[in-house]
Amino acid sequence: MAIERTLSIVKPDAVGKNVIGKIYDRFESAGLKVVAAKMKHLSRAEAEGFYAVHKARPFFNDLVSFMISGPVMIQALEGEGAILKNRKLMGATDPKQADKGTIRADFADSIDANAVHGSDSAENAAIEIAYFFASSEVYGR
Ligand code: PPS
Repeated sequence: MAIERTLSIVKPDAVGKNVIGKIYDRFESAGLKVVAAKMKHLSRAEAEGFYAVHKARPFFNDLVSFMISGPVMIQALEGEGAILKNRKLMGATDPKQADKGTIRADFADSIDANAVHGSDSAENAAIEIAYFFASSEVYGR
């Protein structure tokens, strides 16, 4: 399988619960390497730009408001099949539907406050990593 990179965000709810390390352990235990990382309190403009693709969706304003409610931890992950692997580790968008043992089943409270974001395609992963990191800030192979 190809080595890929994906963009991951530990959302404000999970940062507030002090579980960044526990979530990083899930990534590392699954063979994903953190190759870039920063903690950031997003501005409204940054969050709106990041989620621009969802602008027409009814929950857009709630999603943006939640994402700027506290700092987030943003990381690029690298590894074999990193995009799908991370999505599997995360579990379903709604934690009530998420498989046992996934990050969202274990750490998320609701579909609004669902602990983590992960890129859903190679195309979006490249766009999302570049949204937050200069290429000189990514330390992959
Ligand atoms: S996904 O993961 O992109 O396939 O999920 P999707 O259903 O398309 O949702 C896109 C992002 O919107 C978030 N979301 C919501 N936020 C607030 N309220 C409601 N009801 C809601 N439904 C979905 C979902 O967590 C996705 O955000 P990210 O950050 O990509 O996980």
